[in-house]
Amino acid sequence: MRWFARIYAIGRFADRRAFAVLLIGVVTVAALATAVRSESNGPSWAASQGGAGRIPESAVSAAARPVSVAPTAGEGRASRTAIDLAGEASCDPTAVDRIRAGGTTESTMERIRESPRRFCWSLRPVLAESNDLLRLVDRDHGLEPDYVPPGLVALAEAHPEIPLRTGNERLTARAAGALADMVLAAEQDGIELMVSSAYRDYETQRQLHEYWIERLGRTMAEALSAPAGHSQHQLGTTVDFAPVGRRFSETPQAEWLEQHAWRYGFSLSYPEGYETTTGYNYEPWHYRYVGFAASYLEREFFSSVQHKMLTFLYANSRDRRLAAFRFSRGGPR
Ligand code: DAL
Ligand code: ZN
Repeated sequence: MRWFARIYAIGRFADRRAFAVLLIGVVTVAALATAVRSESNGPSWAASQGGAGRIPESAVSAAARPVSVAPTAGEGRASRTAIDLAGEASCDPTAVDRIRAGGTTESTMERIRESPRRFCWSLRPVLAESNDLLRLVDRDHGLEPDYVPPGLVALAEAHPEIPLRTGNERLTARAAGALADMVLAAEQDGIELMVSSAYRDYETQRQLHEYWIERLGRTMAEALSAPAGHSQHQLGTTVDFAPVGRRFSETPQAEWLEQHAWRYGFSLSYPEGYETTTGYNYEPWHYRYVGFAASYLEREFFSSVQHKMLTFLYANSRDRRLAAFRFSRGGPR
């Protein structure tokens, strides 16, 4: 207690009784603080005190769990895909290395990795589109036999300015409007675009497919005609331009469409050189309306190959039930 006597001596000129009270107060507070700090150290301190009031290990770990395993914002992202088409449609440019390639090629993936912000910027309006507009319909992914697209209109009534082969052709109102714009633009360039075929229901496609099998044999027919339920024509957004057949590729219509169709949201479904990818022969007359946002994305990142884009979108969806990608902010089905 020599240090106490020394400090006490310092206060010899002061009121000794008041100084003593102050000194005893300081010592008491310091002792209490030490005790509280030891208690907050948990079980080890309690154990050193003979185990009385020891906190069980399980209670300690349970209390610690929310802090130790709850992911931080960054860790949380790691468990999701970069493009989330299932719940809240989103694209995260900081996580594009985690996206799934689907049916697309390494060159597309490289392009995405090179400019992830531009990719997400281009993808976002696509994610806001309705589910059916970008539904994957190919040899492996089909439509229900009773699937009929909502909002079909007769082209002859809705857009009498569009040249038609039979006069009975139908499309969804949105695809029809875009087609009318495109037909007018082509006309101003001196090109007449005539519709040879548009919406085909399941039964019509079934009969057509049977017809081609009888005429050409199964192998050849399968390369140019989709089985019922697997034709994009059943979507009500697909158009064949006249004249359907090999010679179409040499027409000014084919050239005009190749250059300008994307501006109106139309995309060539079966391009030359991609027969094994799409499953069908080159069909320069067959265009599907996918909307401008998607036709832009397809051109910028998917080498203008529709099938690559659609399988990519499909692969990045978590909902595989209907061979379609779905997202909560989509428009009417
Ligand atoms: N000609 C295309 C593949 C169809 O039948 O839908
Ligand atoms: Zn077609």
